[in-house]
Amino acid sequence: RKVRAPTHIISTISDDRGEEPCYAGVPMSSIVERGYGVGDVISLLWFKRSLPRYCTHFIEICIMLCADHGPCVSGAHNTIVTARAGKDLVSSLVSGLLTIGPRFGGAIDDAARYFKDAYDRGLTPYEFVEGMKKKGIRVPGIGHRIKRGDNRDKRVELLQRFARTHFPSVKYMEYAIQVETYTLSKANNLVLNVDGAIGSLFLDLLAGSGMFSKQEIDEIVEIGYLNGLFVLARSIGLIGHTFDQKRLKQPLYRHPWEDVLYTK
Ligand code: ACO
Ligand code: LMR
Repeated sequence: RKVRAPTHIISTISDDRGEEPCYAGVPMSSIVERGYGVGDVISLLWFKRSLPRYCTHFIEICIMLCADHGPCVSGAHNTIVTARAGKDLVSSLVSGLLTIGPRFGGAIDDAARYFKDAYDRGLTPYEFVEGMKKKGIRVPGIGHRIKRGDNRDKRVELLQRFARTHFPSVKYMEYAIQVETYTLSKANNLVLNVDGAIGSLFLDLLAGSGMFSKQEIDEIVEIGYLNGLFVLARSIGLIGHTFDQKRLKQPLYRHPWEDVLYTK
């Protein structure tokens, strides 16, 4: 009879003990030989299964179009200031990543949670949005600093166009669009933003692909996997901003006095 020594760690996503590493049971040679992309690797390591090509392609599109949004956004700004303070790559990267949260880039999970709950309970956009207002909660996935009803976010349009062509069902996306139609009738800045678009479309991916049980979808939404897409994607841009500042030999940043309102 084998006596099993107690272990202190349980791990289910990868195994490095054999001749080659395996991601969710798939050996690295198959990953390379089958021409898998980063969307497939995310499927294996995050969702522990191989997803159909349209799903992995969608994941890759999310990564590509969230990779950067210029130097002025919170994350890039922090990274630039940190790099200019002479800090290393990892410090500059995490300084930018630490800004990702409920206002910036990290509203995807909450958007998925609230849109799913509202849709599944059959709330009209009016009931949903006004209910959130009563609770004093801003609708995650709605609103943008520079995008407006008459200057929409191209990234949102690209994601929606892909899903319309390739997803079997886009019911959560359609619901998010109805919510946006209602919020835009209240104020021009209340567009569906890229977090809201990814949150609602990922619900459609999870529900429509037939690859996940209802309990698995609830668990993914509850644990909150989806902000990981933005974190991963934006790391690409933040690393680029670090190299850019180093290449340009930029000096220590100091914010100009004129741009501060000193007041008592
Ligand atoms: N739900 C309801 N009302 C809103 C929302 C929202 N999501 N966003 C803005 N408003 C309204 C509010 O009435 C707000 O007034 P208040 O300050 O009295 O509450 C008013 O619009 C302010 O509008 P703006 O000045 O244009 O918005 P601000 O610049 O303060 O915020 C932000 C922009 C942070 C994106 C905001 O819209 C928000 O919190 N949205 C929800 C979180 C979110 O989705 N973030 C991801 C953005 S996309 C990205 O980062 C990649
Ligand atoms: C982003 O992708 O960083 C944004 O949508 C936020 C912004 O203000 O542009």
